[in-house]
Amino acid sequence: MMSSTESEHLIEKAAQIIRRSKFLIALTGAGISAESGIPTYRGSEGLWRRYRPEELATPEAFQRNPALVWEWYRWRMEIVFSAKPNPAHKALAELENIGILKCIITQNVDGLHQEAGSKCVVELHGSIRRIRCTNCNFKLHLSKPPEETLPRCPHCGSILRPDVVWFGEPLPKEEWEKALKLVGQCDCMLIVGTSGVVMPAALLPFLAKDRGAKIIEVNIEDTPITRIADISIRLKAGEALTKLVTFLKNLRD
Ligand code: APR
Repeated sequence: MMSSTESEHLIEKAAQIIRRSKFLIALTGAGISAESGIPTYRGSEGLWRRYRPEELATPEAFQRNPALVWEWYRWRMEIVFSAKPNPAHKALAELENIGILKCIITQNVDGLHQEAGSKCVVELHGSIRRIRCTNCNFKLHLSKPPEETLPRCPHCGSILRPDVVWFGEPLPKEEWEKALKLVGQCDCMLIVGTSGVVMPAALLPFLAKDRGAKIIEVNIEDTPITRIADISIRLKAGEALTKLVTFLKNLRD
């Protein structure tokens, strides 16, 4: 574990790099929502420690047993709808608000960046707050999980599904293109709370690095991104990003 002075020094260095950057973007993963009580996927408490993704998060699983998949997503929706943005989400919203952060590319489906006030959010893996028809282009934003065991489309009667990207499915084309454009423009990428193992999202830090962008990682453990990071801060996202905003605001004044 990093000493507090060591991590403070790294956060200060990160603030100086960000201060000099012209186009800062963020890439976030489940770790940024961990302090909001939303389970991550990997790691000791991760969802994939307790559940098998091939039974719950693939088109085949939904085809085979839609009621089971819906039961699992209703459980996850309950957690998300009762969760609140944590200081890490708020810190990124503040960085956007003061004109330092241009946009967030997130792998998360919990919508907490938007709840925290972030305006530019690219959801690579969709949103658990939306459901869509498996047959027509009906979509619906939810404020709570659907009551029915198998929600049906009001337009065509087909089964509805969570509007998230399952394993084996392509990312939404528009979102992926937006992400690539942002990576093409950025000179600094702040990567928070991702294990960096799920493609194609995990490619983005490497594409940014290849373009000469500075890479700053915030994670409680090493990841495949750590070796290309200019700075890697071993702190929880809430503490690291709150301190980062403080340093950046002091650098401005
Ligand atoms: N602060 C910072 N980092 C944290 C914290 C925290 N409080 N808690 C956990 N982490 C880190 C873990 O060390 C891990 O590296 O967050 C990361 C979470 O990794 P994953 O659970 O793999 O989540 P993610 O990288 O977002 O997964 C990518 O996989 O299952 C799919 O579609 C799903 O979007 C998800 C994708």
